[in-house]
Amino acid sequence: MLSPETRMIIKSTAPVLEDHGVAITTRFYSRMFDEHPELLNIFNHANQAQGRQQTALAKTVYAAAVHIDNLEEIMPAVIQIAHKHVSLGVKPEHYPIVGAHLLIAMKEVLGDAATDEIIQAWSDAYGVIADAFISVERSMYQTTAEQENGWNYFKDFVVARKVKESDVITSFYLKPADGSNVPTYIPGQYISVRVSIPGEKYTMIRQYSLSQASKPDEFRISIKREADNDPNGIVSIYLHKQVDEGDRLEVSAPAGVFVLDASKSTPVAFISGGVGITPMMSMFETVATSTPERPTVFLHGARNRNQHAFDEDIKSFVNRMENASYSTVYSDEENGFITRAMLEEHVDPAGDAYVCGPVPFMVNMIRELRNIGMDDSRIHYEFFGPAMDLEEL
Ligand code: HEM
Repeated sequence: MLSPETRMIIKSTAPVLEDHGVAITTRFYSRMFDEHPELLNIFNHANQAQGRQQTALAKTVYAAAVHIDNLEEIMPAVIQIAHKHVSLGVKPEHYPIVGAHLLIAMKEVLGDAATDEIIQAWSDAYGVIADAFISVERSMYQTTAEQENGWNYFKDFVVARKVKESDVITSFYLKPADGSNVPTYIPGQYISVRVSIPGEKYTMIRQYSLSQASKPDEFRISIKREADNDPNGIVSIYLHKQVDEGDRLEVSAPAGVFVLDASKSTPVAFISGGVGITPMMSMFETVATSTPERPTVFLHGARNRNQHAFDEDIKSFVNRMENASYSTVYSDEENGFITRAMLEEHVDPAGDAYVCGPVPFMVNMIRELRNIGMDDSRIHYEFFGPAMDLEEL
């Protein structure tokens, strides 16, 4: 427990952290990687280069500081981040390393303003925040390991099949190398894939949504091939070009909180842009096979016909369902965007909507869903990369 004095210091210095948070965490990462280069095996270098991770960490520490009296309020955020940490293999022993470098960076950036008393208060507060993460993550690791066919950290998988879905998206069907089955997962969840790319000093980890309903013996992920010169694309290009059927990949157990509530029978809309279609495929296939009578709408925006994945699969699910519709728009063609009018026509604001796609697409869709009267509690979404909230966009 933090003392009342410590809580007061934390709350009164939280605004300083908001102002300098990104400078502090930027300094923090560069220090930490200098001293612990092995952590570069876990962190996404492209996110680092773009500053997105710095912002995500700063925002969370700030939010935790503001709610230090009642951390329960930020539990949903802690749980979502903990899913990501568990998927990446973050361990309790990593927390003191992060804490120590965060405090040194605070001192460096804030200078004399960061008195010993303030630094001590933040050290205590970090301990409380870290304990919350460690305890949530410990129970997640335990649940994952106890699940039938579950495991912790990374396990070898074989690429059983590689199937081209469009000019840019290819599916990888992955089976455990030890011949076991895979655990059941909730539609919308993702896995992490860890690769050692020849010529690269550190391993690289990326998350990919599972793109089909849960099957006993395999996972499917569907990966967009990024442009050759995109620093974000190094893993996707490697997987597309260098990894073939029969090759092995290291995979972590399914995780993530952007998931379908499959127990509902109320109307549901799946709205995706580009490769944001992947979690939708898992959710949609689940509805099509478990509750085919559920009123369902699938709206998708692709750049053009050649980049449009899963068209035939979606049509065949729709044909098996009792009350489903499917519409696609192509942005290379005139008026090829999902508009408010389109949402008004197809989406029942009393139902639920799941949204996934590039950030501007998501921002637009969420705004328009609100405009057609959908309550925030019914709009479910996931951003690619570190989570952001809408206010900052
Ligand atoms: C991701 C916060 C500790 C490694 C994240 C994200 C946040 C965050 C907000 C983004 C979540 C998302 O993308 O959905 C925190 C906080 C911590 C903490 C507040 C301390 C209390 C740690 C530790 C490690 C770690 C100890 C391991 C050394 C990572 C990695 C990512 C991540 C690798 C993925 C982002 C990337 O690859 O760039 N964390 N974290 N975090 N965290 Fe943490």
